[in-house]
Amino acid sequence: MNPRGLLAFASTAWIATALALPNHFSDTASKAKIHGSVLGAAVDLNDPLYLWNTYGLNTTEEYKYFQEPGNDEINAHYDSRFFKEPVPKEQRSQVLTHIIHSYFEFFNGHKLETWLAHGTLLGWWWNGRIMPWDWDIDTQVSEATLFRLANEFNGTVAEFNTTNPDAQHSYLLDVNPWARQRDRGKGLNIIDARWIDMQTGLYIDITGLSQLNKEKPNEWGCKNNHNYLLSDIYPLRGSFFEGVAAKVPYRYEEVLIDEYSRKALTETHYNHHTWNATLEEWISDEVIEAEKEKEKDKEKEADKDDRQYE
Ligand SMILES: *[C@@H]1O[C@H](CO)[C@@H](O)[C@H](O)[C@H]1NC(C)=O
Ligand SMILES: *[C@@H]1O[C@H](CO)[C@@H](O)[C@H](O)[C@H]1NC(C)=O
Ligand SMILES: *[C@@H]1O[C@H](CO)[C@@H](O)[C@H](O)[C@H]1NC(C)=O
Ligand SMILES: *[C@@H]1O[C@H](CO)[C@@H](O)[C@H](O)[C@H]1NC(C)=O
Repeated sequence: MNPRGLLAFASTAWIATALALPNHFSDTASKAKIHGSVLGAAVDLNDPLYLWNTYGLNTTEEYKYFQEPGNDEINAHYDSRFFKEPVPKEQRSQVLTHIIHSYFEFFNGHKLETWLAHGTLLGWWWNGRIMPWDWDIDTQVSEATLFRLANEFNGTVAEFNTTNPDAQHSYLLDVNPWARQRDRGKGLNIIDARWIDMQTGLYIDITGLSQLNKEKPNEWGCKNNHNYLLSDIYPLRGSFFEGVAAKVPYRYEEVLIDEYSRKALTETHYNHHTWNATLEEWISDEVIEAEKEKEKDKEKEADKDDRQYE
């Protein structure tokens, strides 16, 4: 295990966060119509005829299902249906933490297997938290879980009571209809599902991993060409993320190095933030600069005093 990760989630601060957060949680799993089970059946999930006959999906008319208000740094992180205005920077951490808590409570509660991926996994590796410059949260699920989400849980709204009554949020699990098509298709639907904060529009991107190549049974991939050996992922490791129980791939370092290079695990200055090993936190350069200024001012004051009493 990454010792830093362990320290981070064993500290009392983490436990306090976890306890201070809500546990009253309800959901309205709509148990949508279960389409004919494909698991175990010898069907080609990407066969256009099968997709058309079973789900009414015409692969030549693939359209982008999830919409965002824009594709810049700010607007790309919201789901258009629920977006009103960008969440202020100061509220980011709390809103994202609640999204994560509700997601893992829901998935853990329904025994739906899921694990951290991409930048979210990297944030976990450093200190068990989302990196402060990151507005993206990414998780992965197996194809089997993805189809369970589609068949049994699509459209579920989970209400999550927080200790702050003004911050009671609802979360929507929305499964992309094109999640049924397991190859990349036109590349418009690489995100298979979302867990959306209905108050802000911020979300978790969920992607499914499928065996994409019949010749490589030990390799799973997502629709965005990230491939993994099954032995890199399983058995999943139990850990904590932002104070809640979460899982990570078995060989998480290999997975991270493969995606981001080894530098991502050693570089301590990134995106205008510096890693403080004592605090185990990424501190923004603005904050560090402000601290330095304060120190300088204090020294100046001290100097003045020295001269006065010389
Ligand atoms: C959430 O809080 C509200 C107001 O306190 C309460 O009426 C509601 O029953 C709570 N929901 C759950 C699921 O606990
Ligand atoms: C799928 O869409 C194409 C292009 O619009 C159309 O020509 C074709 O007839 C459609 N297939 C079905 C089964 O509706
Ligand atoms: C999930 O529900 C939405 C809203 O009803 C629907 O548009 C979408 O096609 C559904 N997804 C799947 C995989 O059935
Ligand atoms: C880390 O933060 C502590 C507390 O603010 C500070 O005293 C220390 O100098 C910082 N370390 C580095 C390497 O910046």
